[in-house]
Amino acid sequence: PRNVRKICCIGAGYVGGPTCAVIADKNPDIEVTVVDLNEARIRAWNTDDLPVYEPELLKYVKSARDGADGERSPNLFFSTDVDAAVRAADLIFISVNTPTKYTGTGAGHACDLGYVESATRKIAEVSESDKIVIEKSTVPCKTAETIREILAATGRPGVRFEILSNPEFLAEGTAINDLLHPDRILIGSLRSERGFQAAEVLSSVYAAWIPRDRIMTINLWSSELTKIAANALLAQRISSVNALSAICEATGADIDEVAYACGKDTRIGPRMLKASVGFGGSCFKKDILSLAYISDTLHLPEVAAYWRSVVDINEYQKDRFTRRITKCLYHSLTNKRIAILGFAYKKNTGDTRETAAISVVNSLVLEQADIRIYDPRVKEEQIWQDLKATASDITLLKRRVSVCTSAYEACTDSHAAVILTEWDEFSNKDHSTTQGNSPPTATNGTAEDGNLSSRMDWQHVAGLMKKPMFVFDGRNVVDVDKLEALGFRVECIGKSGTPKASSSILE
Ligand code: NAI
Repeated sequence: PRNVRKICCIGAGYVGGPTCAVIADKNPDIEVTVVDLNEARIRAWNTDDLPVYEPELLKYVKSARDGADGERSPNLFFSTDVDAAVRAADLIFISVNTPTKYTGTGAGHACDLGYVESATRKIAEVSESDKIVIEKSTVPCKTAETIREILAATGRPGVRFEILSNPEFLAEGTAINDLLHPDRILIGSLRSERGFQAAEVLSSVYAAWIPRDRIMTINLWSSELTKIAANALLAQRISSVNALSAICEATGADIDEVAYACGKDTRIGPRMLKASVGFGGSCFKKDILSLAYISDTLHLPEVAAYWRSVVDINEYQKDRFTRRITKCLYHSLTNKRIAILGFAYKKNTGDTRETAAISVVNSLVLEQADIRIYDPRVKEEQIWQDLKATASDITLLKRRVSVCTSAYEACTDSHAAVILTEWDEFSNKDHSTTQGNSPPTATNGTAEDGNLSSRMDWQHVAGLMKKPMFVFDGRNVVDVDKLEALGFRVECIGKSGTPKASSSILE
């Protein structure tokens, strides 16, 4: 196979940045350049205050970008000079955003391929030599056909393009570990001699650190569809367990016990069965809606409705949680102070896209509550940007919401503390649960969670809050008995609440 000397990645986001940091670290002979139109983002990638927070990311970036360990020359570059990097590259990853369309045909459902298209046109415009173009972005099935047409119609004569699909399965918050130890690498190609050759070239890049038997080469269309299908299946598990949590709250069953016991069945498995206030993140909702839209366009309305119900349950779950807060606080939140602990869509990331916190806060503001938000990793300006983009009454929002720099500050004089992100510092369990499902009593911790000293002191919080004090745990990270012993009333997802309050919370 052709020797790879230079890789370009278009899109320096949550996927492009971490993925290229690991590829560059593991392939010191390949020059990797990540480009983006967003100058501020590129500037940040060239500092130690990276635009994306991920555990271990800075270490990998510094090693490849700066040659920080002194044993290698830098081979990772971040630049806004898209043309030069594309022109020089043998392999080009397209890792741009593919959000849900918000206007025009398919608005609110279909995937917006505008960024993929402009990246493709740029590749066609500036390429003077043959390229392998790789879809890293999550795209609807058959997008490679669109890319091929654009390249064929607008590329220079004599320049040949081979297109591969190589979806990314990393999860935010564990991106580096996922990149280092992926369950599989998927490479989709056309079933032609040139397609197989291109797939082999890309395989050789991954083979620098990933065992060959984990690198799967499959048909292009299967590869595109697998990414969306995998996200739909993962989200479907969460919505299934969340739907069961509603039954638990009404019956006295405990969702953590039910999920753990179900997950012990090897046909079901333990991961992604954690009940919560609802899933967030930039991918699940948009990819399921995209899958449903594809189904609609293929005249499969029942299939579309099936997948859409996964999103419907998620909206229902967020709404149900907010209604429970209002109900427990005696049906009135007017002028009551409520601490929001956590704004990111999950722990170990600063990402807030589609976070449940946005809808919960907006609903509580409309109930005229005073909201005090704290998150250890999300910047204040990001919180305001998210809330302003979605609030129905901006004046009310500004009057009712403030952002705090500590959990204690947020909880002071509050009637309730509402946990929306499973940050370790909010947990008072002996060991925090990390991923998937763990026994309801004895839970497993990992080294990452070991930083117990930075946990908040709930006894101290008990002295700060207004009585009666409520904790609404949207992530099931607190030990209910311990908090009740401190005088809190505790409401968790999928469990009936503190007995004194229970008669009023059963729906
Ligand atoms: P992002 O929004 O963080 O990054 C995309 C970047 O592409 C932005 O910085 C944007 O400025 C840049 N961009 C857009 N058009 C461009 C162009 N024509 N030229 C140069 N730069 C351009 O998005 P993120 O989260 O990295 O996602 C990228 C893709 O990967 C999406 O398709 C997403 O569905 C997929 N994905 C995301 C995962 C995640 O956890 N965030 C996981 C797996 C896949």
